[in-house]
Amino acid sequence: MFQDTPIYILLASLAAALALISLLYPKRRYPLYKNDSTTIQKKPLQPTPSTYPLKSYTLPQITSIGRFPSYAALTGVPLPNAYPTFNISTAKPRPYRPFRWAYHHTMALTKLEPDWWLELESTYPSRLLQRQKIFEQYGDRIIRKLSSMGAAGWRVDVACKEVMEMVVQFLCARYPQYFRLDAQSYVLYNKILGKEFDIYCMDPMQVVFQNVPEDFAIVLPDEGKGGKYVFVAGMICSSVGWDLGEKIGRVLGEVHGPVPEYKEKMGMSMDRYFSKLTTDKPIQRGSWDIVVGEPLFMSAEEKLGMTTNEQDMNIKEEDLTLRVDWQTLRRLPLSGGIVFNYKALFTPLKEFEDEPGVPALVEKVLREGNKKILEYKGTWHVEHVALPMLERMRRKQAEMGIWEEGREVKTLEESPFYRGWEEKWRRQQGF
Ligand SMILES: *[C@@H]1O[C@H](CO)[C@@H](O)[C@H](O)[C@H]1NC(C)=O
Ligand SMILES: *[C@@H]1O[C@H](CO)[C@@H](O)[C@H](O)[C@H]1NC(C)=O
Repeated sequence: MFQDTPIYILLASLAAALALISLLYPKRRYPLYKNDSTTIQKKPLQPTPSTYPLKSYTLPQITSIGRFPSYAALTGVPLPNAYPTFNISTAKPRPYRPFRWAYHHTMALTKLEPDWWLELESTYPSRLLQRQKIFEQYGDRIIRKLSSMGAAGWRVDVACKEVMEMVVQFLCARYPQYFRLDAQSYVLYNKILGKEFDIYCMDPMQVVFQNVPEDFAIVLPDEGKGGKYVFVAGMICSSVGWDLGEKIGRVLGEVHGPVPEYKEKMGMSMDRYFSKLTTDKPIQRGSWDIVVGEPLFMSAEEKLGMTTNEQDMNIKEEDLTLRVDWQTLRRLPLSGGIVFNYKALFTPLKEFEDEPGVPALVEKVLREGNKKILEYKGTWHVEHVALPMLERMRRKQAEMGIWEEGREVKTLEESPFYRGWEEKWRRQQGF
């Protein structure tokens, strides 16, 4: 979330990552083309020179490449491996626990794992339905594309189309048992929903919206605004306290609005970072919050109505959920835009019980973390229930021998997961 999250934490780490990434230039090597049903083999385009390190293409060049080029070859990020044991009925998201202690000693950003750009799970049909209802209620506050952006307006359409094609290519490669694209008719078959999508007869954003219950936001540099990145298109259903409609067309610095310490800590470096982010260096990160229930979307008015200075004494332990917004960001190869992708994942706090070190870590952050950030997250509203609960779980873990009292609390080695997560996750899914 742009506002929901202290995104400046992302930015602080981006600055560090930048130094690292710049060391890696210019050793870019594209992997071999991978044959699959959604990739039409083509020679890579010859980019316009002189825009190093970023490549750029003219509209005629992009038009000549046609439909479904190999985005793996264009970006340097391989297609995901097929996941044949995956079963949508029982699939659970990976248990992201992106807690860090101390904040400034750790790097919040990691390289995107190409297999996990998009991640489907058992709530897929119901989440899609919920998102559809939000869209019906709020319309272009949820899905929207900037209609005019001066001379580079065509880039907005190119960016939307390439995101759609990248999404379809990913789904067909990752979940071939559920998604198939007919290479002649360009009909996408979604076997989970039992639906067909004639993708070039639809708005590309709708193709994505109706097949992936995740949020997407696209930004493009705007020459008219000194090359600053402007929010040009997106579909955002899981924002709390703001909506896409009010952010579209604005530069990113404005989008972040009231995130505490954003300006002081980050200043201009975000645009600088973006101007150097290459297609082969996508990034993933998570932000978290502890909330009551599973609030997905809340408009600014609703959020305002909820803001209170009181702790609700009626909240029960079982009402508390960890909300993780798992985010990725990557450069789009043709339009030159950047796409952010978010999914909101909810986990009952009670799950921490058998996750070694997690209760102690969260307790530490809530008790001693940066006050401004915690205030911003609003954790104070749930602390009176969460803290005793976390403390009890921590003590129980000490009794069980999976945590030692008095041990130094810091970011888990397995971050963003925890020791033994995969075994528990597989057991819960049955595959
Ligand atoms: C990839 O597909 C192309 C076109 O269908 C085919 O000519 C080529 O032999 C394939 N390459 C491999 C390695 O399978
Ligand atoms: C997926 O899981 C469901 C529920 O356990 C089961 O009925 C179904 O047979 C599984 N599908 C496959 C392909 O294993």
